[in-house]
Amino acid sequence: MSPEHLQAVGGEFMGGTSCPRLIGASGHPKTLFDSSMLRGRTTIGRRFDLVSHDFAHEPVLLDEVLALLQPAPGALVVDATVGGAGHAEAILERIGPGGRLLGLDRDDEALAAASRRLAGFGERVRLVRASFGDLGAVLAAEAITNVDAALFDLGVSSRQIDAPERGFRFSEDAGAETLLDMRMDRRQSRTAADLLAHAPVTELERIFREYGELPGAARLARAIVERRAHAPLRTSADLVALVREARVGGGRKHHPATLVFQALRIAVNDELAALDAGLDAAIDALRPGGRLAVIAYHSLEDRRVKRWMRAAERGCVCPPRTPVCICGRKPRLRAVVRRAVTPGEDEVRHNPRARSARLRVAERIEADQ
Ligand SMILES: C[S@@+](CC[C@H](N)C(=O)[O-])C[C@H]1O[C@@H](n2cnc3c(N)ncnc32)[C@H](O)[C@@H]1O
Repeated sequence: MSPEHLQAVGGEFMGGTSCPRLIGASGHPKTLFDSSMLRGRTTIGRRFDLVSHDFAHEPVLLDEVLALLQPAPGALVVDATVGGAGHAEAILERIGPGGRLLGLDRDDEALAAASRRLAGFGERVRLVRASFGDLGAVLAAEAITNVDAALFDLGVSSRQIDAPERGFRFSEDAGAETLLDMRMDRRQSRTAADLLAHAPVTELERIFREYGELPGAARLARAIVERRAHAPLRTSADLVALVREARVGGGRKHHPATLVFQALRIAVNDELAALDAGLDAAIDALRPGGRLAVIAYHSLEDRRVKRWMRAAERGCVCPPRTPVCICGRKPRLRAVVRRAVTPGEDEVRHNPRARSARLRVAERIEADQ
């Protein structure tokens, strides 16, 4: 795949053998950093230290992912959300010495961390900066078919949540300096603050209702429009204060702003559309018997994954009372686990961010099976 092609699909090479601009003489991905990743840092060495310590994302449900995806020596694996590469590293260890992994992420910092962590696997790893919404185009350009396993570990990483400058977090004390950014791919121009400043009231209401399932979505949308007429919502603290004033999202087990921030993040990154496109591309690329694993962290996303998997298991999309199938669609997936797998108490105690994780796994079947 040429860098030009990836640019066309919104991607950018971060590693791999056909990337002369970023690869060192040894062909080793350790050198795959460009100067844009060093912004704001004094020395390359300091930056690398920060990447290695800051990106300590603990892979969630790791044992379960390995047991259910069954990556075998020599396998070809797609990690559609490589992040800090915790899952990717464990998978690469399982598929060695000949197995290969294609890793995607939208976030340049995540890819920098993944590139560093996976350096020892050399040519067996290809990292691409792209949304999994463009997975089909990335796979086509890489001429990758017959994938043995694909993993989507959705959402944000611990690093993204913990970095105040990324704007994903909303703790009331830290919020005063936290700008409302929330872009996973910082090449994208629209931030959460831009969306709050310009979206029509009906669009804001839809976002809070559909992506946050927020009681009081219309009230909050109106409050935002009234507020922005005299002062923009710039920081996380501004928005949290407004959520409290508008009295929405209360009476639940979460902080009232949880659903508001979730909804905004989904809208800023167009997460649900990318998910559908990414899953469709993954199913097309899997070989018969190949497996797909998806970890979701909130019910909206998990429900969407569940419905998508059930539809692919069923095949036929004819209305319920149609006597004979006229759509002609065949099942393409078989569930490997009927219910979502959740983390055990030990994992949640050790890594509280795993508590809402739900893992679903399915296997590709021949279309005419
Ligand atoms: C939960 S983390 C993945 C952690 C990873 N499995 C690990 O072991 O370190 C989710 C990652 O998915 C990335 N991501 C979210 N949406 C994406 C998309 N549409 N395309 C590509 N990457 C995405 C985020 O930038 C983040 O790095």
